[in-house]
Amino acid sequence: MSAIIMDGKALAAKTKEGIRAEVAKLQRKPGLAVVLVGDNGASQVYVRNKVKDCSECDIACYDYYLPQESTLEELLALIGELNGREDVDGILVQLPLPAQIPEKPVLEAIAPEKDVDAFHPDNMGRLLRGDAIYQPCTPSGVMEMLKEYHIDPAGKHCVVVGRSNIVGKPMALLLLQENGTVTVCHSRTPDLKEQCLQADILVAAVGREKLITADMVKEGAVVIDVAMNRNAAGKLCGDVDFPAVAEKAACITPVPGGVGPMTRAMLMKNTLTAAQRRQKA
Ligand code: GUN
Repeated sequence: MSAIIMDGKALAAKTKEGIRAEVAKLQRKPGLAVVLVGDNGASQVYVRNKVKDCSECDIACYDYYLPQESTLEELLALIGELNGREDVDGILVQLPLPAQIPEKPVLEAIAPEKDVDAFHPDNMGRLLRGDAIYQPCTPSGVMEMLKEYHIDPAGKHCVVVGRSNIVGKPMALLLLQENGTVTVCHSRTPDLKEQCLQADILVAAVGREKLITADMVKEGAVVIDVAMNRNAAGKLCGDVDFPAVAEKAACITPVPGGVGPMTRAMLMKNTLTAAQRRQKA
């Protein structure tokens, strides 16, 4: 069997077209502030892509670049200013931050109504409770992909590999909300292979090349690869051994061109939501 390759790039393009049409109905152009601290190469690429997405959706993008040696106080001062700005609906601080800046006070400083990443404890709590205003972009992008391909988590055994706050944990919550039976695996799971073999829907979100090999995947499973790694040759790859797993899976996401573009589209969607809510308020 050869799997259906889930085209995140095409779905993201379609999603962004829809967002642009909704943006056109607003009285004022939505605005997204993107803050990058330091010179992490991967983050620079991500931020450049977000700026491009904004322009495609007709969302104003205010990008800020702070030096590597910036302090927590300097970053908090910028966030405070952005929280108060009328033309800024959403604020995103690109992670990871330089080592001297702790993450928690930064994420807690972003006004929850402008927190389009949904990393603020208020928004994480809402997600846990099942009444999120903003869903974190990567897991919500995965849910949109499943919907597009008519894959309903209800009654399925979903295995999420990885327990990060930004992907693994919220991914498990969203699958649970859609009535999946969810197992979360992580670095201390002793029988990862056996757990993965139980999965009807397998989500890999660890960041280790070839973590998921074909012998770990049930025939006919749906395999979602959230990771973005570079292999020894410098090529982008996920956690899944794609060619071999594609022979066994029913559906699989590629890297690149799978979850990544959908993550970015969901950021645009959250920014639209923020602007719509402010217009109503
Ligand atoms: N770094 C990697 N993924 C993300 C994300 O979704 N949001 C932010 N702000 N930083 C990231």
